[in-house]
Amino acid sequence: MRRVALGALELAYQDRGHRPALLLVHGFPFDHAIWGPQIDAFAPHRRVLAPDLIGFGASSPGGRPSLDDHADDLAGLLENTNAGRAVVVGMSMGGYIALALWRRHAERCAGLVLAGTRAGPDTEAGRAGRYQMAISVSAQGVGAVADALLPRLAGPGAPPALAAEMRDIMHRQPRPGVIAALKAMAARPSSAPDLPHITVPTLVVCGTEDAIIPSTESEAIAAAVPSARLVKIPGAGHVPNLEEPGAFNSALRDFLASLDDAGGS
Ligand code: MLT
Repeated sequence: MRRVALGALELAYQDRGHRPALLLVHGFPFDHAIWGPQIDAFAPHRRVLAPDLIGFGASSPGGRPSLDDHADDLAGLLENTNAGRAVVVGMSMGGYIALALWRRHAERCAGLVLAGTRAGPDTEAGRAGRYQMAISVSAQGVGAVADALLPRLAGPGAPPALAAEMRDIMHRQPRPGVIAALKAMAARPSSAPDLPHITVPTLVVCGTEDAIIPSTESEAIAAAVPSARLVKIPGAGHVPNLEEPGAFNSALRDFLASLDDAGGS
């Protein structure tokens, strides 16, 4: 992992391949390792940047109070690595952050890929659940969140080894970063008003069996973003890039090829 200083904090990231840049933004409570199949597949063709968000993985552990801070960190990463603009791929929480990056630093986005995510904010009940979970993580550790999420993360056909891999990634996340992310997600604003104003090519991807964020949320994003295309991956759950890497990579490859054809990335 490389490291870049962002003020007093350090962001760790994988940096493989050459321009143009593909920025992979992980979901909760993971780190860059969730993108293993994409890093390997795309590094021969792109410059793949896969950070651990502040509070996760090998980055500074304290977390960030707002998802906007994470978006600013990613803009800082692109600037500090001379990557310029990137196609930004966000999975779930990473999608919330990708939309914040678009809102705050649109000039850094050559395209958006929104995977297993939603544009709207939390409901009141959802917010209350996050604060409750933050208390549980504080008392019991990140195992509390892993136990709650794992049974619903992957689609019904996913092999047990996949659950074990996801559990391992979750368990190594620092407790303060996980708590901060729960609170930051609870506080995030709606990105729905931004969707009609997205002017870069956008790919929306979801698993048909996502039990955490239903595929109707992806349909709504795709309907609201003028240039969006929607790809649903049959049988996949909330982490389609790991569950069905072949189908996910093929959708991403087609999308990137369409950008190259248009001279856009
Ligand atoms: C994620 O995968 O990043 C989370 O499930 C998102 C969320 O909790 O809203």
